[in-house]
Amino acid sequence: MSESIPEAILDKISKTTSQLKPQTESQAVSELPLPSYLEQSDAVAKRFEKLKRREVILEVKGLNKQFDTPQGAVVALKDIHFKTHRREFVCVIGPSGCGKSTLIRTLAGLESPSSGEVLLDGKPVFEPGPDRGMVFQGYTLFPWLTIKRNVMFGIEMQGASRATAESEALQWIDLVGLNDFINAYPHQLSGGMKQRVAIARALANKPRILLMDEPFGALDAQTRSKMQANLLEIWRNIDITILFITHDLDEAIYLADRILVLKAHPGEVNELIEVSVPRPRSAQQSISPEFLATKLRLEELIHPKDDDEDALPLQMVRMSEVGDDVEAVE
Ligand SMILES: Nc1ncnc2c1ncn2[C@@H]1O[C@H](COP(=O)(O)OP(=O)(O)O)[C@@H](O)[C@H]1O
Ligand SMILES: [Mg+2]
Repeated sequence: MSESIPEAILDKISKTTSQLKPQTESQAVSELPLPSYLEQSDAVAKRFEKLKRREVILEVKGLNKQFDTPQGAVVALKDIHFKTHRREFVCVIGPSGCGKSTLIRTLAGLESPSSGEVLLDGKPVFEPGPDRGMVFQGYTLFPWLTIKRNVMFGIEMQGASRATAESEALQWIDLVGLNDFINAYPHQLSGGMKQRVAIARALANKPRILLMDEPFGALDAQTRSKMQANLLEIWRNIDITILFITHDLDEAIYLADRILVLKAHPGEVNELIEVSVPRPRSAQQSISPEFLATKLRLEELIHPKDDDEDALPLQMVRMSEVGDDVEAVE
């Protein structure tokens, strides 16, 4: 594992940044002598070998989803295939509207496929169930219940006694670091803390898979990176498989074993990438060659060159040519 930046890259970065010509981040990175994103160290390759030998938790087979609207049919998902293995962390990324939420809602059983299958532990998914925990971007806690009661709720619904539910809830609350807030109400917590409760509540049902739809999308950058580190820590410590949707490339690379990249209209699998960045992960790795190479590949897939509106030269228009009667508004 190399956390230090090779000399050649540092040299290239300093040359690149000293150039007067303004460049986008991806242009600058694309000129670096990076390894291929497919290249894996022995340790990373061994990890993937081990991971792929584990049992399959979730299997998506030829999944199609079409919405019939008054304006016509919208094909949200087209022929999606993939598997996730036990204790794997898979991120799904893709441009807005490519069907990410539709995919996760279908996995949760909140939408039914137009065709194809979703199998959890080999059994078809038809409806929501406690074997799948959901965490959304919006806060979905019960506002009238304390944090402890919010987490106890699902455990009691599964038939546990109040005493068992309480002792289990306290363990999950401890895991997300909110011991001091068990008797607080959701409105007394920050956005990050509310999402920690949502994670504790989802895990308390002991799901086989945690389905997360842009759960940190509404948080500020600093809270977001703390939540990412906290989620990785939780994932390392318990037997849980995670499918996590994001449109943030750095977040996907930092968190995932593999990244499922979707393309839009219709939402199809573009590529399933094995992230070559070694674990355990740290924020410093975001400037490592493996991280940058993966990010560059994701940029290429999500913003293909001929699609890049920012690259078009701007048409400059002099205001005086538009009309001399245009007055400045003070
Ligand atoms: N209930 C619905 N009815 C009609 N169209 C929908 C519905 N839900 C999603 N869509 C359409 O399906 C496509 C994918 O949406 P969505 O899954 O929300 O994308 P993403 O989460 O990637 O932004 C979009 O074109 C969206 O307008
Ligand atoms: Mg969405």
